[in-house]
Amino acid sequence: MLKKISALFLAGATASVMVACGNAAGADSGSGGGGDDKITMGFSQVGAESAWRTANTKSVQDSAKSAGFELKFSDAQQKQENQIKAIRSYIQQKVDVIAFSPVVESGWDTVLKEAQAAKIPVILTDRAVDSQDTSLYKTFLGSDFVEEGKKAGTWLVEEYKDSKDPVNIVELQGTTGSAPANDRKAGFAEVIKADPKFKVIASQTGDFTRAKGKEVMEAFLKSNPDIDVLYAHNDDMGLGAIEAIEGAGKVPGKDIKIITVDAVKDGVQALADGKINYIVECSPLLGPQLVDLAKKVVNGEEVPARVVTEETTFTQEQAKKVLSSRQY
Ligand code: AHR
Repeated sequence: MLKKISALFLAGATASVMVACGNAAGADSGSGGGGDDKITMGFSQVGAESAWRTANTKSVQDSAKSAGFELKFSDAQQKQENQIKAIRSYIQQKVDVIAFSPVVESGWDTVLKEAQAAKIPVILTDRAVDSQDTSLYKTFLGSDFVEEGKKAGTWLVEEYKDSKDPVNIVELQGTTGSAPANDRKAGFAEVIKADPKFKVIASQTGDFTRAKGKEVMEAFLKSNPDIDVLYAHNDDMGLGAIEAIEGAGKVPGKDIKIITVDAVKDGVQALADGKINYIVECSPLLGPQLVDLAKKVVNGEEVPARVVTEETTFTQEQAKKVLSSRQY
């Protein structure tokens, strides 16, 4: 594998070096390197917890293939320790670039310093880390999760603008400690705090999965008879919660209004069917931008420190119009 090295190093030395590249057991599903000038990218994915994640994985794999990359892909099954192992394995294999979507925000400095010491550039995709030292990664590509939370809150404030009654909200949070859970909660709280009638009466993690969303919503329904609104940090948890609401003999979208984030096909279908009231889009189609950024960092080109994904919101009427063309 021909490994391209940073512009700084290039200035004083050779243009490229041949580096042996072997597979570390169990850490990836790539085909191994050796003997060509392809860019080799190690990608550590969070897991397969949601339809969003499945679409994101496909986008990264398809884009890497079209760009002629050798992709070493690993699924961390929502565990930080698995991601750290995968990143260490990519360092050992001397890949050209490492990209990863951090399951949680904190605890990355040590392994990122190891990548930096090995002169392997790192790209954060989808989720952020809370490292103070931003030189540990080249760029962060993904959504503005605080903005997503604010959009959810803004819809709610508008929806209840003519009511003086208390609005009891339950919240299904994403994975504890993850950037989308932290930021979607914060953005939503920031907007609704303007009016004390909005009360978050229960808030718990559903780990971004349908099964956990259902289980936690069942518990919410048992202990809170007067829920007006569910705010779920993703569609999958919202869809699980819909099953719980229907199981409790209530009508989702009417007895309990539901706001979710993502806009995957099943979510948009439930929105068009009137079971969800509003969805804030979070796009998983990060693959094309990721491979462009990866090419640039491998070639020592400047890249922006932050690349924010473009996204929109959907009402029930809008969902009916876009449903047939929704890709994922
Ligand atoms: O990090 C993005 C979030 O992770 C998506 O909103 C959610 O569905 C996924 O699991």
